[in-house]
Amino acid sequence: MMSNDLTFIHRFESGNRLEAPPLLLLHGTGGDENDLLSLGQTVSPGSALLSPRGQVLEQGMPRFFRRLSEGVFDEDDVRRRANELADFVEAARARYGIAAPVALGYSNGANIAAAMLLLRPDVLAGAILLRAMVPLSQPSQADLRDKPVLIVSGKLDPIIPASNSAQLAALLANAGANVQHPVLPTGHQLTQTDLTLGREWIKAVGFLQAEKTEMA
Ligand code: MLT
Repeated sequence: MMSNDLTFIHRFESGNRLEAPPLLLLHGTGGDENDLLSLGQTVSPGSALLSPRGQVLEQGMPRFFRRLSEGVFDEDDVRRRANELADFVEAARARYGIAAPVALGYSNGANIAAAMLLLRPDVLAGAILLRAMVPLSQPSQADLRDKPVLIVSGKLDPIIPASNSAQLAALLANAGANVQHPVLPTGHQLTQTDLTLGREWIKAVGFLQAEKTEMA
């Protein structure tokens, strides 16, 4: 389904497996709402997929927030855009009747997902952050108790120093998130291992959600 009448241009694909958590797909710089649909289907077959297009343009390339240079962010814009995206997710949940999604973000999309976790933690059930970095230098205290987060980094990533992704993992863990942070022997591009790790992780998250529903 294609729709423009919520605040972000987006794609929504309804899932066919109730126990699979909905995914919020967040593309990298220069991507769009179509980019991660097949990644989402691979990582969590049968999940509903909500896939917005970033509203910032950098030389014609869609992004989710402004940056001053590579890896240096306009943090006021990060805050504003993360809140706008969170509002969109809430409106889309009401429209499509889905539970709080697990974010699946790559690069710039992973960074806005990390900002949403810090600023609007209730909007996401968890997150897979592929090649993410710290989005805010002085985030306010978020309550991420027990929220599952998978961060997959590349040891040879030329954009993200290892210390930065380690700092992100520590930041989220200190806020209470249940963080896993594998570091792969690769660069900024995604690999087959990212998909495998994401798939294994989402299965575990799906089981947890099913248990919670049964107990409720
Ligand atoms: C960002 O701007 O979010 C990061 O530098 C990643 C990227 O989009 O290249």
